[in-house]
Amino acid sequence: MPNTPAFQMLRAAAPTVSVGVLTANLLSLGSEVALLERTGAKLAHFDVMDGCYCPMMTVGPPFIKAIKTSLLKDVHLMIQDPLEKVAEYVAAGADIVTIHPEACAQVHRVLQKLGTLTNANDPERGVVRGVALNPSTPLELLDPLLEEIEMVSVLAVNPGWGGQKYIPATTARIARVRQMIAFAGKDILVCVDGGITKDNIAEVAATGADLIVAGSAVFDGKTPEANARFMLETVRQQGEGSRQ
Ligand code: DX5
Ligand code: ZN
Repeated sequence: MPNTPAFQMLRAAAPTVSVGVLTANLLSLGSEVALLERTGAKLAHFDVMDGCYCPMMTVGPPFIKAIKTSLLKDVHLMIQDPLEKVAEYVAAGADIVTIHPEACAQVHRVLQKLGTLTNANDPERGVVRGVALNPSTPLELLDPLLEEIEMVSVLAVNPGWGGQKYIPATTARIARVRQMIAFAGKDILVCVDGGITKDNIAEVAATGADLIVAGSAVFDGKTPEANARFMLETVRQQGEGSRQ
């Protein structure tokens, strides 16, 4: 719900980076996430893939639960039929749960169900409900869902792997999503996910997206802390510039 503390925390932090941990060292994810806390990051993005909706398999609820962090847990469910599974992710500490409409028999019902769940980190906080739009998903799909979401995630790559290339048409899709939200008079966060690099993050931030997911550009096996700081600072500066 837009006026929940979780939503307000994100609104206050925006524009900012949600750091994807898919390419971090999963066997030492606790310390990788601790490293992110030191950079001033507010969110960790968990890409959940089930080997069914997506070719790859990644992590599930026990793993997400095991990560002890002050960061908000941004859980991107690339899984088939999430209806019976969303409660487990919320119980594991998800603050944001994003689902894919194509993976749901009844997407509206899944969002309604998410709206009834209690945040496991803090019962007052609320759970932010996101819908992810693949590069091929018609944006009109959003219209009947606007009452039941607090975030739209515009995917700039097809779900499946980290480290893919940003699809240029995404930039125009973000602009259209922002127009649709404004036209409906809603306060809904816009996220962009996939293909973000140090070279394109300023340009992507200029679209006005609230959250920018950056995974492999941060966890590049070399300098994750410096990378995260660079990405956060670039997005912060872009936000300051657009407010002036
Ligand atoms: C795509 C995932 C993205 C991806 C981001 O399947 O949803 O979150 O892991 O990773 P990078 O930043 O490496 O494109
Ligand atoms: Zn993701």
